[in-house]
Amino acid sequence: MTKNKSATGKLWGGRFAQATDKLVEAFTESVSFDARLYREDIMGSIAHSKMLARIGVLSDAESELIEQGLLQIQQQIESGEFEWSTELEDVHMNIEARLTEAIGEAGKKLHTGRSRNDQVATDIRLYLRRMCDEIIELIRLAQQAILNQAEQQVDTILPGFTHLQVAQPIVLAHHLLAWNEMLERDIERLLDTRARINVMPLGAAALAGTSFALDRDFTCELLGFDRPARNSLDAVSDRDFLIEFSTAASILMMHLSRVCEELITWASESYRFISIGDAFCTGSSIMPQKKNPDIAELIRGKNGRVSGNLQALLMLMKAQPLAYNRDNQEDKQPVFDTVDTVTASLQVFTAMVPAITFNRERMYQAAQDGYATATDLAEYLVRLQVPFRDAHSIVGQLVQYAIGQGKALADLDLEELQSIGSMIGEDVYDVLTLEGSVESRAHFGGTAPDQVRSALAAARQRISS
Ligand code: ARG
Repeated sequence: MTKNKSATGKLWGGRFAQATDKLVEAFTESVSFDARLYREDIMGSIAHSKMLARIGVLSDAESELIEQGLLQIQQQIESGEFEWSTELEDVHMNIEARLTEAIGEAGKKLHTGRSRNDQVATDIRLYLRRMCDEIIELIRLAQQAILNQAEQQVDTILPGFTHLQVAQPIVLAHHLLAWNEMLERDIERLLDTRARINVMPLGAAALAGTSFALDRDFTCELLGFDRPARNSLDAVSDRDFLIEFSTAASILMMHLSRVCEELITWASESYRFISIGDAFCTGSSIMPQKKNPDIAELIRGKNGRVSGNLQALLMLMKAQPLAYNRDNQEDKQPVFDTVDTVTASLQVFTAMVPAITFNRERMYQAAQDGYATATDLAEYLVRLQVPFRDAHSIVGQLVQYAIGQGKALADLDLEELQSIGSMIGEDVYDVLTLEGSVESRAHFGGTAPDQVRSALAAARQRISS
């Protein structure tokens, strides 16, 4: 048995005559954060060793020993017994060193035909693939919470806004379904990213491949990758998939921030469209009357760090020459932070949604107050053969008149209406009501309650399929 005689005591220490400076050790270690990849690291190593046995580089007994040793290490890690050492730098060398300690010579053979460069790239892809699946599941739960609320609100009328000014009446479920659309695109983006994540770097070794005749298809199959990476240099240096994942995560957080912004506005004293249950609000240390939507604000705020992490990764990769550079070790913290932030935000968001109570009267009143059916009136005139531009102008004058009278359009009597639009008839009141307005938008994608009911059913169907 050959001993490691290096002055450094490191697995890579053969050519070193001096021990590593302590500052360097502290500066270069990554185990304090990449230990999180232990599961994937072990999974990758087991697959690699099985493949080495298949091609005759390891004996079946050695590969079996390695697998048992690694599974035992996994148990030790999960029960908290495993002692991580910063002297051993990263998750990979911690596990490998412990394996050799436990099983002897066979452990030293595991790294044949492999480098930490393809190993770490494999680990992080396996990890992110799992995280994509978990986050997609969390998005689905958020969608379900939204759809559950929407089901109760198909006939609830509120103003739809443009420029945050009352625009046209809509039903609340239609608004909630718009949130659902955003989240559905987020899932599509993650699935799309997942396809590019699911490519296997193993076999690239340090950068140039290896002289062993590795069966990469076999390893690939064991690990559930779609295919081995086509180019060894690219395999160890590509971090596009992290950038793509972070982009998808940033867009998701942007969506949550938009939804939360609406919740915050709607919960404000001036709107009072909703109230959020006490369990999902917090108070003020000075103003006793306050109940603040801090959860929604925090989710909105966390948008910043997730986008910041995306920028960090873009800058990390900018101008990096091929192939692996140690810079890449810096890819992990931003990604882990993004995963944690997105996960926590989705979980608390989904828990908060059922705690929202919608104030139908306030919403209805706000739609009444804002001349929201003016467009319906213009369209009524168009049906009486008035060109749209003229109709627009007539209704504009009517709105101005009604504002002067302090009345809603529906409160003007026929005489008043006819004084500006002589062609207006008694039936005009059908289109001036909020109910008439929403019901008339009955095409696919519109806000008519019947349309919204089918949109809801279709959305449910897509989530469960
Ligand atoms: N901890 C390293 C990382 O995260 C592993 C790869 C190190 N490779 C090397 N040649 N130093 O990227």
